[in-house]
Amino acid sequence: MAHFFYVHYALPTYFKNIFEGHVATQYFDGTSRDDAHLGMIPGPADQKIDQRSEAAYYGPSYMIDYLWNEAEGVTVETVLINCHYPITSNSFMLQWGAIVKKFPGMSDEEADAMAAQVAEGVGLGFMQDVEIWKNKAPIDNPLLCDQDGPVYQLRRWYEQFYVDVEDVTPEMTNRFEFEIDTSRAVETWEREVAGNVADGVSFSMIPASRRT
Ligand SMILES: [Fe+2]
Repeated sequence: MAHFFYVHYALPTYFKNIFEGHVATQYFDGTSRDDAHLGMIPGPADQKIDQRSEAAYYGPSYMIDYLWNEAEGVTVETVLINCHYPITSNSFMLQWGAIVKKFPGMSDEEADAMAAQVAEGVGLGFMQDVEIWKNKAPIDNPLLCDQDGPVYQLRRWYEQFYVDVEDVTPEMTNRFEFEIDTSRAVETWEREVAGNVADGVSFSMIPASRRT
């Protein structure tokens, strides 16, 4: 959950994981931080964006992420697809793409331009995840804090793809739900953000092509 604040510059207001069978889903609601400019949708850099995401992994290497980004009453709907499979013992092939829903009344040219802008903004956010993956190392027994979420259950879910089918156990595939109350973290983060705003510190996720 904290990943969204530190990596994607969002304040999470709702966060839940559901694992069931071979599907692992993450539900997220949030808003953009007042000290950050996000490029997920067209519009002024300092606009407040309300965000919703439903991201599900179907197996260990294929994810579909439905994204709703809303600013000033306008919602942009995006689908991000992400696929990564191992090609050597320490590297993987990454393929991803995004589609953006056309607004009614928009010409094909306008829709193409908007989709390109949105995909660039979403892509920039996704590349921050990739940067983390590049620097990740496995730790078998991580020291976790309360808000880290069900890391060990996620590993039980993941384990089903590393054993023969007859060795898959119910603890790997049973429905498991975990919701984190974000209110206490948000309280602390709002103070941090307000401090940054007061100090004139801000973060930009606006793609280079849209900066003036
Ligand atoms: Fe991420």
